[in-house]
Amino acid sequence: MHSEFLLHIAQNLPMLSNKHILLGICGGIAAYKSAELIRLLKKNGADVRVVMSNNATQFITPLTIQALSGNATHIDLLDANSDNGMDHINLARWADIFIIAPATANIIGKMTHGLADDLLSTLYLAATCPVFIAPAMNQAMWNKAIVQNNFANLLQQGVLAIGPEKGSQACGETGFGRMSEPLAICAHIIDHFADHAPLAHKSLLNVKVLISAGPTREAIDPIRYITNRSSGKMGYAIAEAALKAGAEVTLISGPVSLTAPHNCHCIFVESAAQMYEAVLSKTDEHHIYISAAAVADYSPALVNPTKIKKHSDCTTLTLNKTKDILADLTSLASHPFTVGFAAETNNLTAYALDKLKNKNLDMIAANVVGAEIGGFDSDLNALHVYWGDGDVFLPMTHKSILAEQLIELIATQYKSSL
Ligand code: PMT
Repeated sequence: MHSEFLLHIAQNLPMLSNKHILLGICGGIAAYKSAELIRLLKKNGADVRVVMSNNATQFITPLTIQALSGNATHIDLLDANSDNGMDHINLARWADIFIIAPATANIIGKMTHGLADDLLSTLYLAATCPVFIAPAMNQAMWNKAIVQNNFANLLQQGVLAIGPEKGSQACGETGFGRMSEPLAICAHIIDHFADHAPLAHKSLLNVKVLISAGPTREAIDPIRYITNRSSGKMGYAIAEAALKAGAEVTLISGPVSLTAPHNCHCIFVESAAQMYEAVLSKTDEHHIYISAAAVADYSPALVNPTKIKKHSDCTTLTLNKTKDILADLTSLASHPFTVGFAAETNNLTAYALDKLKNKNLDMIAANVVGAEIGGFDSDLNALHVYWGDGDVFLPMTHKSILAEQLIELIATQYKSSL
């Protein structure tokens, strides 16, 4: 993230000031989420204009959209009320980006084949700015070969996709096809402008960053293990942010169901012992180590070779402390600039400062876990980051944005440590 955006964050300023965002809403149940998207874009300072398909007006009223966006809602291709009768040209020229959310199978098909039978589809042909789609449809529709072909074709044409996500759907089915949450879409848009900002600087160019992410699994027997709720989202977002900042990234990941960012070296491990070996074997090749993984503190003393049988009413598991990766790494004569995490349900500051000192860290990022939002397995998080003589609170936001803010802080502290 470049300095203009950091300044906005530091001063709590909107991150989309002066940006012209054209939002297309198609007819799908996810259209209600577009209202929240408009609110978030506006809150971040964007000027939002909205074009709706006729079907979209069955799901959410143009008046609601007008009230939220503060601008007239555009629906008709041939609108006698528009200044020159050419809204498709005027809006396309005005837009810095065009985002279609929700994007139905119908608009994806029309865009692929260059069909322009209403204002929204005509705008796609007239638009010269970057175009994003946030697909939303029933999972069977999404999986249909023709839809997948159309989607792939659009990506080849340079259209950028946000989602869809996997989950339960309004139709009662489960699978891919849910529209990404408005906050995630807004984060992508902010990211887009940050990436394309003039003179965007790469704060970690020529820097090698090692990142651990996700949980570990400690085997009890061949089919059971102890683990925790880490999804890997925070660590993977940090890897993505470090790549964007120009770093060469190695990601050491516990078992997660995420796709690793492109262009990063990945090492997949399962247990705390494997993560220990993987991290320690890579430290001397890296300048910075960021320990976002939720590594087990204890592991079963014995792994039963066969399935443990249900013979008694209660049983005892003896656990041994695992080796502390961070503490062992920082006790090496030469080691990377080291950033730990502290995941706490209570006494966040005290425990985090303890870890900063006892593990001999350069920085620590403290987060509350076990609360309703943020922390483990959430798209959102907040961090209080501490180092020798300073600290910064990064408020609750999408993990992708938070990761960029954290990476900028780390880059600054790392450089001043040289
Ligand atoms: O993965 P997500 O679902 O996105 O959730 C993100 C997160 C909550 C897991 C992440 O933000 C986070 O806080 N990660 C650290 C979790 C943790 O194990 O915290 P801790 O306070 O127990 O450990 C302190 C530090 O020591 C951590 O940096 C940890 O990686 C490290 N550690 C712990 C044990 C061990 N044996 N070796 C270690 O290096």
